Amino acid sequence: MHDILPDATHRWQAFESVIRQLMASYGYKEIRMPLVESTDLFCRSIGEVTDIVEKEMYTFEDRNGDKLTLRPEGTASCVRAGIQHGLLYNQVQRLWYNGPMFRHERPQKGRYRQFHQFGVEVYGISTPDIDAELILLGARLWKQLGLAGIRLELNTLGSSQARENYKKVLVEYLQQHDELLDEDSKRRLRTNPLRILDSKNPAMKQLLDDAPVLMDYLDETSLQQFKKLTASLDAAGVEYRLNPRLVRGLDYYCNTVFEWVTDELGAQGTICAGGRYDGLVEQLGGKATAAIGFALGVERILSLLESQHDSQTDRIDVYLVLLGDACESKGLLLAESIRESLPALKMITHCGAGSMKSQMKKADKSGADIALILAQDELEQEQVTVKYLREERPQQSVGFSELNTFITEMYSRNQPPE
Ligand code: HAM
Repeated sequence: MHDILPDATHRWQAFESVIRQLMASYGYKEIRMPLVESTDLFCRSIGEVTDIVEKEMYTFEDRNGDKLTLRPEGTASCVRAGIQHGLLYNQVQRLWYNGPMFRHERPQKGRYRQFHQFGVEVYGISTPDIDAELILLGARLWKQLGLAGIRLELNTLGSSQARENYKKVLVEYLQQHDELLDEDSKRRLRTNPLRILDSKNPAMKQLLDDAPVLMDYLDETSLQQFKKLTASLDAAGVEYRLNPRLVRGLDYYCNTVFEWVTDELGAQGTICAGGRYDGLVEQLGGKATAAIGFALGVERILSLLESQHDSQTDRIDVYLVLLGDACESKGLLLAESIRESLPALKMITHCGAGSMKSQMKKADKSGADIALILAQDELEQEQVTVKYLREERPQQSVGFSELNTFITEMYSRNQPPE
């Protein structure tokens, strides 16, 4: 679990403002769920025999003896909230959330015990146009963030009946080659055989390459839906790779599943993942409701952003240098007046006195473009001295009454065009 330090928070804020704007532009509304839920919710939704539920949940008893868990993901909570507040039945909901999730995993680069997900969940639309919308929304997000080299992997798991049929065939095939299975897969053969397809064990590669593929066992409706989705993606020019091995690590999925992956983050290359989960609302006690969503790992996105772009620092625009008691009092008032007319300007008013030299050092370190200096001389003449910290330019004097206009003009010149 990590602290996010002051030098890094501006990157989080920039990401958060992009998603807020993007979500509004697609008509999605934010939902905020609690960090803690009843343990049972995750066992029933994610699945008893998944890695998350078997090994990774932070579970504890509260003072009443209730079994609670720090949420390992947002989908289950979102469905729980939707049922509880009557948001789902006979309605369309386009929702998003952003916040911390908890999994007791082996920490490594890109895999943490407290991490953050930005997630999107849509309820009440069973047609594949919404599957396409979610994928286009992802593609737009990468574009807006300026991220390159992100690939889309796509698969369909079919209806639950089709999957059950396939499961039988797969288990039969794998049992015939029992001696080639590793310990983990032998266990999964009994509990969650589809997950064996996900195995990264090179010794099993050939066996899995030759295994029967789910696509051949799909029901007609799922196939038609999937064809419509791929046709929409083709029309929109979104590239994808069909990956019949993509099964996802949570039990609630059916039909479309997808992952956005990159080669630039080593083993933790999946930055975003999701799919349909039409059965989950009913399974958790609601009326049958079509559902689809995805979640992305914010740490992974930020790490990719950092490796693809020069790291930008959170700079200040103006540093106000104040020398002596009278200037400090006047300085506070000038600063308030500037903030009144330019709320977006980033300005530090020096506090705590100190020599001109030490204040100028701080001004320079803050990254400010200019220092405004107010000392006794300036105060008497009702003006400040403007010193350019990043340009070779002579300093100049600006009267108190012209100061707001001067800074507004300078600030608008320094803003990158939208
Ligand atoms: P998930 O595949 O478990 O799916 O997680 C989604 C994303 O969260 C991953 O692709 C990864 O980027 C990030 N992530 C997962 N675990 C960690 C970790 N320990 N450290 C850092 N990042 C991590 C879900 O959680 C589903 N709820 C997604 C979904 C939403 N499906 C439908 N709606």
